[in-house]
Amino acid sequence: MKISKVGVIGAGQMGCGIAQVCAAAGYKVAIYDAAPDRTKAGIAGIDASLARRVKSSKLTEEARAATLSHITAASDFAQFSDCDLVIESATENEGVKRQIFEAVTPHLKSECIIGSNTSSISITRLAATTGRPERFMGIHFMNPVPVMELVELIRGIATDETVFKTIQAFALTLGKTIAISEDYPAFIVNRILLPMINEAIYTLYEGVGSVTAIDTAMKLGAHHPMGPLELADFIGLDTCLSVMQVLHDGLADSKYRPCPLLVKYVEAGWLGRKVKRGFYDYRGETPVPTR
Ligand code: CAA
Repeated sequence: MKISKVGVIGAGQMGCGIAQVCAAAGYKVAIYDAAPDRTKAGIAGIDASLARRVKSSKLTEEARAATLSHITAASDFAQFSDCDLVIESATENEGVKRQIFEAVTPHLKSECIIGSNTSSISITRLAATTGRPERFMGIHFMNPVPVMELVELIRGIATDETVFKTIQAFALTLGKTIAISEDYPAFIVNRILLPMINEAIYTLYEGVGSVTAIDTAMKLGAHHPMGPLELADFIGLDTCLSVMQVLHDGLADSKYRPCPLLVKYVEAGWLGRKVKRGFYDYRGETPVPTR
């Protein structure tokens, strides 16, 4: 099956990154967000990201213009009617995602494939909300999407093999490498990464080390490109908490219990970089630890 046009639902950091890499690979892209202002801001962010690459001679001005020309803002799901693939990248909340799938599916042509960029939620369960579970699968990108090489692919119980093969080939055209995961809570990357981040938050909570000590320890002691608390802020603390809750609920093992300090930060609305405050305060020139 040929993919020419991709619909992206959600204009947050992940949705915009997905739109950018699809457009850069030559696909037509329509991006939708429930808040039209976010779509506008998201496309401006993609423009700024491409401009930075032109400035550092990593991209030509022509390639930047071509990428941008492939992206349009969709104001409703009717504009997805000619999409060959729709990738949902809304907030990591099963209720929200279910509502989106129920709303979008009636507008899609029957052969359109639906993918979810969920970080943790059961693909089989999400597929059941679409009425076309055989044309549904997990397509999980990493943040920042234009930089990270990996895409995790997850089949639901009903995913058609030709659909899987089509998406596998599609991901390769984006220049990504694939890891295939079975449909279990948080798949591979987040099953391993998020408990590590949660443990770093426990390490802070129990006073074993400060924010700076923990991040320095893991950057210089384990060669991680970002410390775990910096990375938590980068991913978004709400997403980190959602993934831990899915692991805890889905695997029923106390080793996945979300750290109370993570819960407290989320309750405070300190969600990380996107709101300029999390384990660091990003409102000034340089990030300052908040504990
Ligand atoms: N968006 C787009 N491009 C970005 C970017 C962003 N947010 N941040 C950095 N970049 C680009 C830069 O433009 C630069 O590109 P060029 O080499 O083409 O110039 C490149 O990335 C390197 O950037 P920098 O030199 O400024 O910064 P760095 O060397 O410190 O690298 C990083 C930045 C790539 C983000 C690095 O810190 C890193 O790898 N961090 C870990 C990221 C990670 O673990 N991601 C996975 C999160 S888990 C996940 O996503 C799954 C989930 O479901 C929660």
